[in-house]
Amino acid sequence: MSLRFSTTGASALALAATFSLAAGWSLAQDDTIISAQFNDAGEVLQPTDYRRWVFVGAPLTPNALNGGEAPFPEFHNVYVEPSAFDHFEATGTWPEGTQIAKELTMVQTDDSTNPDTGANAQVSGFGYFQGDFVGLELLIKDNARYPDEPGGWAFFSFGHGGEPYAETATAFPTDSCNACHADNAETDFVFTQFYPVLRAAMKNH
Ligand code: HEC
Repeated sequence: MSLRFSTTGASALALAATFSLAAGWSLAQDDTIISAQFNDAGEVLQPTDYRRWVFVGAPLTPNALNGGEAPFPEFHNVYVEPSAFDHFEATGTWPEGTQIAKELTMVQTDDSTNPDTGANAQVSGFGYFQGDFVGLELLIKDNARYPDEPGGWAFFSFGHGGEPYAETATAFPTDSCNACHADNAETDFVFTQFYPVLRAAMKNH
């Protein structure tokens, strides 16, 4: 069974590679990937169009279920830059230059909000509904620019105070972010296990 699975995966990869070469670009070339912009000080610029990237999922850690203050409150809307998404779908791997944004929103509260769970009642049922934007994080894979970061992954925040977010950001120290992703994320520092769109994209790999 496992032999059959890996054979299928290898054929899919060969097919993807053949298709890519026929289309005029190679999977190994990073110039097909739209990467982040940096200023002269080496700070990354806030991406302007991330809400148009591929939306892959929305983990939810309500404050009410996390002692009143979740480390990343509360909805985490995750978007992958489209050229990186295409590469991931074709190969099951994240290319150099990959950008993944995570935008945070609070849950809505009103008179029906349950103080123990943070959930409230709406016409569709009892649950969680997205409120205001409260933060923006970015993950970038760039081994050339960040050779000391495990996997070449650098982590950024444009603020946890709502809009407008900061226009630039500097990379966090490895221990602040990268280490937890290294230990717990399923696919090259990315928590694909929590994103149905990415699980579907990697089905053939
Ligand atoms: C204690 C573990 C932990 C730490 C520390 C951590 N993260 Fe994450 N991160 C997660 C988990 C789990 C997810 C996916 C599920 C979720 O969002 O709840 C995630 C998801 C992300 C994502 C979406 C892409 C992905 O890899 O799934 C970004 C962007 C992100 N984190 C940025 C950061 C930044 C920036 C820091 C440091 C300030 C940080 N993370 C620190 C656990 C961590």
